[in-house]
Parts: sequence; C-alpha cells; structure tokens
Amino acid sequence: MSKPQKKYLVTGGAGYVGSVVAAHLLEAGHAVTVLDDLSTGFREGVPAGAEFIEGRIQDAAKWLDPSYDGVLHFAAYSQVGESVVDPEKYWVNNVGGSVALLAAMRDAGVRTLVFSSTAATYGEPVTTPITESDATAPTNPYGATKLAVDHMITGEAAAHGLAAVSLRYFNVAGAYGSCGERHSPESHLIPLVLQVALGQRESISVYGDDYPTPDGTCVRDYIHVADLAEAHLLALDAATAGEHLICNLGNGNGFSVREVIETVREVTGHPVPETAAPRRAGDPAVLVASATTARERLGWTPSRADLTGIVSDAWTFARREEPTTP
Ligand SMILES: NC(=O)c1ccc[n+]([C@@H]2O[C@H](COP(=O)([O-])OP(=O)(O)OC[C@H]3O[C@@H](n4cnc5c(N)ncnc54)[C@H](O)[C@@H]3O)[C@@H](O)[C@H]2O)c1
Repeated sequence: MSKPQKKYLVTGGAGYVGSVVAAHLLEAGHAVTVLDDLSTGFREGVPAGAEFIEGRIQDAAKWLDPSYDGVLHFAAYSQVGESVVDPEKYWVNNVGGSVALLAAMRDAGVRTLVFSSTAATYGEPVTTPITESDATAPTNPYGATKLAVDHMITGEAAAHGLAAVSLRYFNVAGAYGSCGERHSPESHLIPLVLQVALGQRESISVYGDDYPTPDGTCVRDYIHVADLAEAHLLALDAATAGEHLICNLGNGNGFSVREVIETVREVTGHPVPETAAPRRAGDPAVLVASATTARERLGWTPSRADLTGIVSDAWTFARREEPTTP
C-alpha cells in the first residue's frame, strides 16, 4: 500500500459534515484521525479507514503531535434555538474548546487549520448576495461563538504564523453515501420535510408567507455536502502561513421554503401537508452567499447545485435510517 499523502485530525468527524469531509480525505489517500465526544455525533458515522478517538477537543493536547499535517475543526454545538436558551453551553464548548485546540496545535507544531464557520456570523444581511467583507452582527449566541472563534484564528495566524481558512457554510444539505444529516432535535428544513414524507411528522410548518420574495416564503442557499467537502480539501492546499482566509460557501442561488417542499413532493412521491405559521423573529427574507472568494482563492466550483439532486440524496439517506420520534 502506498504511503498516505498527509495526516489530518478531524474534530467532530462523527457528525454530519465532518464525516463527509473525513470520507473525502480518505478517498484522496490521506490518513485521518477523528476526535469526537459523540455528544451529537454517531460512532457508526465515522467512515471506515479513519482512526477514532472518543474524546473532547478540550483535551486535544493528549493526542495532537507533530505527525499531523493539519486539523479540520468541525466540533461544535450548532442548534441556534438551544444557544438562545443556554448561551453558556455554547461559549464553553465552541469557544473554550477552540481555545484549547488552538493551544494544542501550537504546542504540537501543527500549523494548518480549516474551521467550520457559518452564515450565522453575519446576522441580518446588509447586501444580497452576502460577501465576506459585509458586517458581522450575529443575532444569536451560536453565531456569536463562531464569530469569536474566527477572531481568535485571525489573531493566531498573525501572531504565530498559523495557516488558516474559515469556511462560512450557508445551508448544508444532501448526503454522501452512508454519511448524512441527523441532528436531534432536527432543525434543518430538508430533513424536516423528509420526515413528513416518511410519516414521522404530521406536517411542515411554513413560518411566514408574506416575505418580499417571489412566493412569499424565505429563500435560503442550499449547498450539497459533497460540494462542501471538496472545498475543504482545496482549503488545505490554499492555506498560507500567517494568513486567515475567510470564504463563504454557497451556490449563490436561493430556493424558497415552498420550492423545497414542492421538490420533496416530486422526489418522494409522498404528500407533504403544510401548516401556516407566523414569521419567526430574526428570520431574514433572503440568505444567499456570494462564493466569489471561494471560487477565486480555492478554485472551487460547486457541481451539485440542483435542488432535485440535493433532495434525492437526502431522501436516499433518510430512508436508510431507523424511524425516529420527531
Ligand atoms: N449543518 C449545517 O448546515 C452547518 C451550517 C453552518 C455551519 N455548520 C458548522 O459545521 C460544523 C459541523 O456541523 P454538523 O451539522 O455536522 O453538526 P453535527 O452536530 O452533526 O457535528 C458536530 C460534531 O461535533 C462533535 N462535538 C461537539 N462538541 C465536541 C467537543 N467538545 N469535542 C469533541 N467533539 C465534539 C459532536 O459529537 C458531533 O459529532 C459545526 O461546527 C457547525 O457549526 C454547519
């Protein structure tokens, strides 16, 4: 067997996005160690071929050593609603954990980092599509903790020469083989609508149908998780010592809530009853990414922007799951 090209630590690699990226790294011939405390992830989600450490990023110093070429950092809590009612949980884990991870990287001489940031760092959009130079004003503690980590990374790159890329994902969707989305509680639209199609949920709530959008429902930018994974591999190559590069990741094309529901009906062939609900506070009408920086600096081009394909892959994954209680 040929020697692995590089060796990476993937924090949160038992979760949705981390497991898909770990699978892509392995397919590219790299050696992968997943560090995950299984707080929201699943042991069986870790792709075959990856070494698995059940542990917390807060203790990363126990395992990080100079044999690693870099870290891809997905481990975090990411439920917006929960972060509003229990902000401390988010500051302690997302920020405290990242402080410990950055220190462990510095001590071990591991100098390349790709971090999962989020569109939630921007808050209410000032322009559409959103660019990386737009103001960051998160409207919830989850987004604030992610922005705080971005600021920390900027300082780390300037002070200690870290080569860092933050990828600000918009709405990640779809699945990659046996790796797919299963948050608990689920808060993302596509898996929620699929639960209705599977009969696990009675109806899908449509929060507001009087927004200034073509059909009155909110528009979001859905990006296929495999396209997202490819951006991570490109980010590892693009990372430059002393620089913190920040890139939005989205398709630049939004789809409305109603378009998503209609696509789920078409793909699954199942009825999907809707329930009209009032607007939710803090839900912007349109959230769409400008991914120009990712295209220019990473050479990234998403190739799975079609909503039907995204929903089809998510549907294939949802049907292989055990039924869950909504
Ligand atoms: N899914 C999305 O649409 C989306 C959008 C924007 C940003 N993100 C970010 O991407 C990352 C991955 O998101 P996801 O949807 O895969 O979430 P996920 O919950 O499926 O995965 C997160 C993983 O991190 C692990 N984890 C949490 N805290 C940990 C700790 N202290 N130590 C070790 N492991 C820990 C969990 O067990 C889980 O496996 C997160 O950082 C999230 O903020 C996700």
